[in-house]
Amino acid sequence: MSTDRIPGAVGAPRIRIEGGLKVTGAARYASDVPMPDLAHGWMVTATVSRGRIRDIDASTALGMPGVLGVLDHRNAPRLNALAGNYFGPDGSLQLLQDDVIPYAGRPIALVVAETPERARAAAAALRVAYDIEPHDVDLRLEHPAARPASTAFGPEADTGDVDAELAASAVVVDERYRTPEESHSALEPHAATVWWENGHVYAVDANQGAFSVSEVLAALWSVDRERVHIRAEHVGGGFGGKSACGPQLILASMAAERFGRPVRIAMTREQVFEATASRPPTDQRIRIGAGADGHLRAIHHRAAYALSPLAEYIEWCTEQAKILYAAPAIRTQLTAVPLDVLPPASMRGPGATPGSFALESAIDEVAERLEMDPLELRLRNQPTAGPVSGLPFSSRRLVPCLREGARRFGWATRDRRPRSRREGPLLIGSGMATTSFSAGVFPSSASITAERDGAFTVSIGASDIGTGARTALTAVAADALGVGTEEIRIRIGDSDLGMAWGAGGSRGTTSWSFAILEAARKLREHLADPVRPVTATVDTTAMINFQPDRERQTFSAVFAEVAVDPATGEVRVRRLLGMFAVGRVINPLLARSQVIGGMIMGLSMALHEESVRDPRTGRQANGDFAGYHFAAHADVPDVEADFVPDYEPQDPAGFNGLGEIGTAGTAAAIANAVWHATGTRQRILPIRLDRVLEPVTAVDVADELRVA
Ligand code: MOS
Repeated sequence: MSTDRIPGAVGAPRIRIEGGLKVTGAARYASDVPMPDLAHGWMVTATVSRGRIRDIDASTALGMPGVLGVLDHRNAPRLNALAGNYFGPDGSLQLLQDDVIPYAGRPIALVVAETPERARAAAAALRVAYDIEPHDVDLRLEHPAARPASTAFGPEADTGDVDAELAASAVVVDERYRTPEESHSALEPHAATVWWENGHVYAVDANQGAFSVSEVLAALWSVDRERVHIRAEHVGGGFGGKSACGPQLILASMAAERFGRPVRIAMTREQVFEATASRPPTDQRIRIGAGADGHLRAIHHRAAYALSPLAEYIEWCTEQAKILYAAPAIRTQLTAVPLDVLPPASMRGPGATPGSFALESAIDEVAERLEMDPLELRLRNQPTAGPVSGLPFSSRRLVPCLREGARRFGWATRDRRPRSRREGPLLIGSGMATTSFSAGVFPSSASITAERDGAFTVSIGASDIGTGARTALTAVAADALGVGTEEIRIRIGDSDLGMAWGAGGSRGTTSWSFAILEAARKLREHLADPVRPVTATVDTTAMINFQPDRERQTFSAVFAEVAVDPATGEVRVRRLLGMFAVGRVINPLLARSQVIGGMIMGLSMALHEESVRDPRTGRQANGDFAGYHFAAHADVPDVEADFVPDYEPQDPAGFNGLGEIGTAGTAAAIANAVWHATGTRQRILPIRLDRVLEPVTAVDVADELRVA
């Protein structure tokens, strides 16, 4: 049902329902739920990047006070090797199953003790001997192990004749861009509290989707999913790093089974870095050709990313090249390079974020060579339909984002020549970028009960990882039932609530709203009936069209102003403005907070974040918050974000997702602003001081890393 013209909860700014619980400390997270008879597990992780475990000597550890035992590959419970994700079996889940070391940070033992301190002390006393093999952690496009990425979710683009169009172009940009490995760095470290009872396993876990995690854990243990009960009521951030069934949950479930007690694992920050997930590094080459009139003739986007041979993964760097610009020839090639590294996972705006850095930097370089305003270049190349798919866009409000963003930012007064603005010793520049991000829904179930007291209980296996999902869904349910939000009691974050998509792919709120709207529609048929309670339950699986005949995307335009100190190489972002087209906005307060958070993450990517691997050991050298800097308050300037009016016709209530689009685009806007300030292109992230002082090329950077 369309509720857009009815004044209601959707569209109104509202603070988070659980905000009071969080600020008073009453909200319980996975590592602080009260639990009697609790034992504590401490992970021991591999310190080499490749090889085998020759021996683990636990004799000292086992004699230490309070130690209950040590699990390793020789005595751990056996897991079902076929357990996996939508790509198939996932070896990264197979913890303590063999002596192979596939990456530094791989959990190789778990020490279990009466207190975390005793477990930690005993873990330090474990003596591990390795047979070390040579490792390779060095990503490059030409790596001999490079192979095409999975096309499980659609083929790469190959339309028109790229080479012929490039040959006929007045200007051609052919450049290389690199982005580093990054860490999700959610505030709450991964943790789980797990116990078994009568063949059922119960867990409070830090994850982004309790239902899908329960499916994976059930598969690992070869038990019915109905015997796995996962709660994740409050989660302190995820950004994709908690989308999987995490090591904390797998290992704690093993220990709880073995010792017959509840077991808690709470990772240290260092363990989160080395043992959970990361955004893979990318190495990208882009060729773009344009006519003298600024019309693009060809886009060729090649991207390589690192993964682990343990599991398939897609970093979708080339998606925007299929969406953003009209060009007669578009080719994309996505390459996966298996290396001895932590298996990657989606990190906010997977693919789109590193991919847009490359694409939107290259577009800016085209504008530079054409001596054309980069905003004008973009306006000139807007497609009328999907440039590769040929499908119409269901809603494409990118031009309003560009025009309104330019107006608010004051773009019209900009002198497009680089190094044209100074303030004392500082070089000032501005830049912009556009992005798209795919939107849609995935299957979920929901049930709504009309209670005796007149209120409604909405139950859905949704996940609120700090986004405000709980609050947004309450508004959606209230409008769908035609009542005030105070009549809605919402239950989320529990696998027992039924099948539901997780907080991921910018599809959480759309998927859950779709299910809630359908459940409300069904319930309304029974509301005249006086019997209470009455419940309506729906499963949207059969209602979803996975072959839509229109492109469903969200869009943004991001504008940045920077000041660069040429003496130190320091880049300070002064202003950031993002204009977004994300369908109908459910809660402007929380939506703004989401996209601003995303933009700050993009700023952080542009200037700060970088997981550095020591080339001699392959280990991450800066896996803590002292060595891995992400944007802190002092780094974050005046950030503004707003939404252009939009309505998604493929959604029953006009919604699209907005969890990730804030991140994509920001790094390119900042890099383009740095070029405008300094006259030098920064094609490698992060834009470190040394790179500003002495620019390096993407080809040099491999050498730079090797000699580091
Ligand atoms: Mo997200 S990176 O799709 O959890």
